[in-house]
Amino acid sequence: MTKEVFVFDHPLLQHKLTMIRKKETGSKEFRELVQEVSSLMAYEMTRSLPLKEIEIETPVSKTKSYVLSGKNIAIIPLMRAGLGMVTGILNMIPMAKVGHVGLYRDPVTLEAVEYYAKFPKDIDKREIFIVDPMLATAGTAIAAIQTLVEHDAKNINLSCLIASPEGISAVQKAFPDVQIYTAAIDSGLNEHSYITPGFGDAGDRLFGTK
Ligand code: PRP
Ligand code: URA
Repeated sequence: MTKEVFVFDHPLLQHKLTMIRKKETGSKEFRELVQEVSSLMAYEMTRSLPLKEIEIETPVSKTKSYVLSGKNIAIIPLMRAGLGMVTGILNMIPMAKVGHVGLYRDPVTLEAVEYYAKFPKDIDKREIFIVDPMLATAGTAIAAIQTLVEHDAKNINLSCLIASPEGISAVQKAFPDVQIYTAAIDSGLNEHSYITPGFGDAGDRLFGTK
């Protein structure tokens, strides 16, 4: 069964997303905001992680308390723009391992072209969070999920800052088991397959390449 999209509606996150969208926001502030939003997203993305009770000793007495149990986590940024989300998530989940997929969207064909892939050895046993600020046509996300599936990855989540309705439908059609998280579902795609209203070219705004 297709998993329902989780939309982050926290006021802090929505406020910061508005600052990210504004065209006058420069690279330094853009990077800081993407990092902050990613930390807030990680807080929600990990809400259902299982806990186990352990016994500890405080300076005052012995007690039982909770720690994370179950599957370990892998964060998979899609390069380039997904890199901007990694530090914010690692700040919240420092024990996570990080794999990388390098993909760019060919500006003419809009096909995703893979140029790099490297994952933790036990990727098949980890809870996976693919991170990329944009889900537009979904060509990039679908290619990345396909690569992960070929590496035996099973528990795959996709986290983005904004998504188009077309991108969401495409991922859900290709991989109904993948849980999608986003801070906004925008109105659609323009003639260049950019998300509208969106926030422009995520990689260029993060790294100042335009
Ligand atoms: C952007 C973005 C996504 C992709 C989304 O990357 O970060 O990866 O486009 O578009 P899609 O859903 O239509 O595939 P881009 O191709 O601009 O590469 P970059 O991150 O290296 O700038
Ligand atoms: N890639 C971007 O960086 N922005 C979009 O709106 C779509 C794809």
